[in-house]
Amino acid sequence: MSTLDSKYRVVRSLTRSLAESLSAEDQMIQSCPEASPVKWHQAHTTWFFETFVLRPFLPDYRPFREEFHRLFNSYYISRGEEIPDKKFRASFSRPSLDEVVAFRAHVDQEMERLFAHSVDGEISRRIILGMNHEQQHHELILTDIKHAFFSNPLRPSYCVAALPKESTHSAPKLRWLHFEGGLTEIGYSPHAEDRLGFCFDHETPRHRVYLEPFQMANRNVTCREYLEFMSDDGYTRPGLWLSDGWEIVKLAGWEAPLYWERDSADETGWRVFTLRGWHGLSELLDTAVCHISFFEADALARWRSCRLPTETEWESVASGVRREGNLLDTARLHPATASGPGIQQLFGDCWEWTGSPYTGYPGYKPLPGALGEYNSKFMSGQMISRGGSCVTPADHVRATYRNCLQPAMRWQFTGIRLAV
Ligand SMILES: [Fe+2]
Repeated sequence: MSTLDSKYRVVRSLTRSLAESLSAEDQMIQSCPEASPVKWHQAHTTWFFETFVLRPFLPDYRPFREEFHRLFNSYYISRGEEIPDKKFRASFSRPSLDEVVAFRAHVDQEMERLFAHSVDGEISRRIILGMNHEQQHHELILTDIKHAFFSNPLRPSYCVAALPKESTHSAPKLRWLHFEGGLTEIGYSPHAEDRLGFCFDHETPRHRVYLEPFQMANRNVTCREYLEFMSDDGYTRPGLWLSDGWEIVKLAGWEAPLYWERDSADETGWRVFTLRGWHGLSELLDTAVCHISFFEADALARWRSCRLPTETEWESVASGVRREGNLLDTARLHPATASGPGIQQLFGDCWEWTGSPYTGYPGYKPLPGALGEYNSKFMSGQMISRGGSCVTPADHVRATYRNCLQPAMRWQFTGIRLAV
């Protein structure tokens, strides 16, 4: 079996196992505009292989059901069809979950037929893109069901087992690591770590940048530190906030990270909703704070007389660090407490907001055709976060990986690393 073939099976079966404990009803819920139902994720990731691999490259391929071509398209407008509005995804009671599962099996079977022939060049590139696309949806399945369960008055848990106890109970003291800066390069270049040699188009071209000397924190900001910001009236002092952020604080009534709820039973006065149910904040004080917007990250940084790192600073540091951490593969499903000397938590735990807007690198060229829509058309009004989270597959993220989000978004596992 080729590396491509076996990786395809691993990626596809992970989608199945992430959805396994969810009922058909659970898989229909879309609780906020930025999320999608799990059933839709299962179908849309399958649509990708049908549309971009099987239809063009398997000559006698028979689509599972012609209407799915339009129904499970997400945003590839240049494919010519009118795309169903995202807000109606939760109204797809049909096709049933069973039919979506059958759609997945059909496409997997046909992909096996394709793998029996030699698969290289453009076909192989598209399969690798499809697998990386599905890995992005692994993370989304978990972030979206977390929001769906939090929105349900019964507040069900995705995982019955509570968060495993950590061997480390207190985070190392926040220390500043000094970096000289100077002329450096960022952007993807193939290396041995990525066996299939993949990156998204927006990670290229590799290019030179000049950095002034800077300092970066040795770990993420903890829940304890965030609580200090809240206790110091962080949410009621307009001087700490960007104007757009302050508008949202007032409008949405933000007073804490998403998934924090007041609880007089806990000594901190708060409890936190996780994929493993409720935990008193007192249990999580030393873990990395997450589910905060760019605006909140920026406000905390101002309160500490610091700033967020630029994505260039972040990548220049992360490119010298082993790609390991509390990612999806640890199955913790929540940020952990940093431990050890040196720089910690660059990969995993939570995506780290940077102060950099999402734009193309100098000389950036999107992929040709409809796949060029994958990243380039979102280069407006979004900020970059880096490093992956506790729900990002470990072999999906890398030092050059760029995640982009609108600055008010909080439903992903996003947190803070400080810089000065
Ligand atoms: Fe997608």
